[in-house]
Amino acid sequence: MRTDIPADVTTLLRTAPWLDEALRRGPFRVLDQAVLGPSRLLVVAPADGAARYFVPVLDADPGREATRTADHDRAVVQALRDGLRLPTAAGNVVEFDGGPPPYRGPLPFAPGWSSNALSLVDLGGAAHVHKAYRRMSAGTREPRMMRLMGPGGRTQRWVGDYHYVERDTGRRLPLGVVYAYADGDGLDLPLRHSIRAMWPLLADGVGVAGAVDTVQRGLVDRLPEAGRFLRAFHDELADRLGPAPDFPAERFVAETATRVARLGPLILADDRHPGPVRAAVAAALADELDRQAAAAPGSWPSGATHGDLHLSHFLRAETGAGWRMCLIDLSTPAVDPADPDRADQSPWQDLVSLLRGLEIFTADEFAHQAAIELDVDGDETCRTALLVTAGHPPDTAGWTADRLAVLRRSQAAAQLWARRVRRLLIAGYADPGTEPERQPAWRMFRLRRLVHELDYAYAHDMPYHAAINLRHALETLRPATGEG
Ligand SMILES: Nc1ncnc2c1ncn2[C@@H]1O[C@H](COP(=O)(O)OP(=O)(O)OP(=O)(O)O)[C@@H](O)[C@H]1O
Ligand SMILES: [Mg+2]
Repeated sequence: MRTDIPADVTTLLRTAPWLDEALRRGPFRVLDQAVLGPSRLLVVAPADGAARYFVPVLDADPGREATRTADHDRAVVQALRDGLRLPTAAGNVVEFDGGPPPYRGPLPFAPGWSSNALSLVDLGGAAHVHKAYRRMSAGTREPRMMRLMGPGGRTQRWVGDYHYVERDTGRRLPLGVVYAYADGDGLDLPLRHSIRAMWPLLADGVGVAGAVDTVQRGLVDRLPEAGRFLRAFHDELADRLGPAPDFPAERFVAETATRVARLGPLILADDRHPGPVRAAVAAALADELDRQAAAAPGSWPSGATHGDLHLSHFLRAETGAGWRMCLIDLSTPAVDPADPDRADQSPWQDLVSLLRGLEIFTADEFAHQAAIELDVDGDETCRTALLVTAGHPPDTAGWTADRLAVLRRSQAAAQLWARRVRRLLIAGYADPGTEPERQPAWRMFRLRRLVHELDYAYAHDMPYHAAINLRHALETLRPATGEG
């Protein structure tokens, strides 16, 4: 088989937004290919050979991607209906499996940025999503998880999937999945409406607590429901996957210690912020680690996770009698008992991730509001909020006492608003009388998540996000108590 690559496919890959920037430079090789109707399915390896990518292109015009075109979607759906086994040029097979209703046509869909290729299609009169994975990996478990969990109704209903099956190893790498469209918006939508309704009340002189009460009136019943839904999802996952091994708490704490130690010097070297602020954050992280590591271990819930839970993967639709909910993009990191990573999961990690998503969402909304009210950009808002939280005066021009008072009040209001959302969600999730947030396991999961976010912000030079995460790290030292 020829492994050189048509020039126009190279051009396509050089500008592909879904490919890591470093890999876009090429060169590329075609490792395998097969023709499916109007499409040529390419298996492409960038120069380092570390990963393989699934790149369907138009057979008649290989410089154009076939994904998200009607002809390609139609061909894939038909192949699923036929249970097609499509031999490839290098002697492997693409296996199609499922029973989707017949293809009728494309539907408009704007899912926003995603690392994969998603299109919305009309199958037998109902909306379905065709999701094609760009990166080929046996670690993509979404189709399998959807088959497992779809019948319970807490994630999308699977109707078909297709895999690249290696002849020599028998390994099956998911290439795509088709599922019934789960109607709804992310949890961020009602939250955004709520927090954005708060600012005008504050401007009219309503007190912070009263304003939060008012704008959360529509959420006080719904958010505990959402918490219960997530708990039921975890219970179902545990039922379907069988007994989970104990969570390796000791190893997790040791690994977290290593990561905190590695992050400290990065924070201390971050000269965008005054030295004492950096020192305070580094100390906050180290203190939190020491305190939680020294505490009585408490319980470490074990069990499989969603694996990538954030507000927009938590869909909800108002039905009049409550929310209909659905968790999408199941990314469970390991499911097989023999997989060494199987134990490294705790359902609390999902809830902690979701709540970190909430905190970051709130910081974004706070920055958005500051831009309107104070005419400052997000970087400046987040940086100044960090300094103020650390007890350090602002060190950039224009922060008069009045302006600073507005910033502080918005920050306090945003914090109280988020704290109540968090408590409502946890109240629905947790067993009565338990306080997960006080458990060392919870605090350790939260710390680890923060360290991960900060590592990412430093590795990708994202000062806005770094300032938010540094502030949140600092707030960990002074956990919210009392009112709220
Ligand atoms: N069933 C659905 N109902 C409504 N919206 C959906 C559905 N499936 C996907 N979407 C929309 O498409 C977006 C991307 O889907 P998804 O998260 O599955 O893709 P992804 O490529 O895995 O994304 P990421 O790169 O964030 O992991 C979702 O955040 C959501 O906005
Ligand atoms: Mg994903």
